[in-house]
Amino acid sequence: MSIRVLFLGEIVGRPGIQTVKDALKSLRQDKNIDLVIANAEGATGGFGLGRAHSMQLLKLGIDVITGGEKIYYKKDMVDFIAKNPSILRPANYPPQNPGRGLRYLTIGEQKVCVINMLGNADFPRTHLSNAFSLAQILVDKALEEGAIAILQFHASPTAEKLSMGYMLDGKAAAVIGTHTKVLSADARILPKGTAYISDNGRCGSQISVGGFAADTEIEKRITQIPVRSLECWDGLALVGVLVDISDEGKATSIETVNVPVETEKEK
Ligand SMILES: [Fe+2]
Repeated sequence: MSIRVLFLGEIVGRPGIQTVKDALKSLRQDKNIDLVIANAEGATGGFGLGRAHSMQLLKLGIDVITGGEKIYYKKDMVDFIAKNPSILRPANYPPQNPGRGLRYLTIGEQKVCVINMLGNADFPRTHLSNAFSLAQILVDKALEEGAIAILQFHASPTAEKLSMGYMLDGKAAAVIGTHTKVLSADARILPKGTAYISDNGRCGSQISVGGFAADTEIEKRITQIPVRSLECWDGLALVGVLVDISDEGKATSIETVNVPVETEKEK
């Protein structure tokens, strides 16, 4: 039995949650999806993930929520993440930090290990253990346990993500990049059978700057005065990648998913 995994792009704000609400259930049924993994570290106003929004997303059919450098931004998540194994924080935070960096699940007979890792480049405020050496250890451990290993790599430069993809090629079934929130055109199966994409896009407004209203983002760039980013409701879509994985833990296909969502106006 092969398994089919949907990796949703970063869910940005209430518009992002709206796309999940409107489109995920039918997509899951139509495509016979076994597992849904989504980055949601910006689901609460674009900066962090609050407890209530995390619970809502899990109820809407997401099985594992992953994070990144913003996972601890909302105070109530710091406590809640320790209690909820379905919400991951990057595995390369200090081990005593609240929450877990990976989750083992069983789909049918198949054991799956979902690992969340944060890149080392471009995050000057985080001081993490090395993403590459830790990824090797955790993926090897998952394989020893007889599990399929999946890595959600929250990182900034494509070179870092590609290096991770090739390092784990043939070991991890999928290395899926997040954080930049723009769907990249490089979804592919690497030579030894790992599904790879540098960035699986975002769920929410596609006519925006990373899910935020462009006007405010432009103004910030010009004036350099910090102002709150505004959620954008234009051109909503549920975006991500769909990956099929064989019993041997090799990816057999990866395709991008883009489901437009019609919304009258802000809800
Ligand atoms: Fe991020």
